[in-house]
Amino acid sequence: MIFSEISSTNDYLKQRLTKSEPLTEGSVILAVHQTKGRGQMDSIWKTRAGENLTFSFPLYPRFLSIQNQFWLNIGISLAVLKSIQEVLPKHDVSIKWPNDILINNKKASGMLIENSLKGKIWNYSIVGIGININQEDFEVDTQFSATSFKNEDKQHFDLDQVFQIVCKHLNHYYTELQDSENWDDLKQTYLDNLLGYNKIRSFRIQKSGFIQEGVIQNVDEFGQLCIQIDGRIEKFGLKEVQFIS
Ligand code: BTN
Repeated sequence: MIFSEISSTNDYLKQRLTKSEPLTEGSVILAVHQTKGRGQMDSIWKTRAGENLTFSFPLYPRFLSIQNQFWLNIGISLAVLKSIQEVLPKHDVSIKWPNDILINNKKASGMLIENSLKGKIWNYSIVGIGININQEDFEVDTQFSATSFKNEDKQHFDLDQVFQIVCKHLNHYYTELQDSENWDDLKQTYLDNLLGYNKIRSFRIQKSGFIQEGVIQNVDEFGQLCIQIDGRIEKFGLKEVQFIS
């Protein structure tokens, strides 16, 4: 379904699914323009009409246990990463934990994955993805300044073509996830493309307020970032650590 204007594709889906209006797994809600696009941690995702990809789709990943929720994040992140690498093969594309996708160290894509659980059973997951394609300037800047395909590659891109490529990779990685024998490979590919993996970097530790050097060693099954600091592995959740450089 394509909407020329909608508040947020994630919110639209959430309303439908909470009203028990079933939607087939993977049916895509695409917006030419979102008036109240949402980002992670209550941020806003503001992009210009008709210049970018903003879409959401429902998944029912009942093959994953609740403890394994982060695997969905790994699969979707890899799909967007590989799509951008396919379209922009000459550029440096990486994942900034947990799921920002950077081109040449600037943020080009973000995702908002909202899971609904019923007790111990997975009810649904809404996957919302924003990819900056042809927009040239951005009002809201993140710590990693925002960019787009056009800003990095100096040419205009056909949104439909990019969307088809993203769908191809999403199908591929979702299918891969359904076979847990592939998980080690998926995790290694995620780590190999993770900004700062196995490299000395600086992090601001929220709790202490200190900036410390450390090396990202892993992401655990709960999605926590495991950083070796002063010879010890410390684990951090989303708001607990900030990548400095
Ligand atoms: C982030 O990096 O903060 C996540 C951004 C997610 C934006 C997408 S755009 C489509 C979908 N609808 C929303 O309201 N948000 C997501």
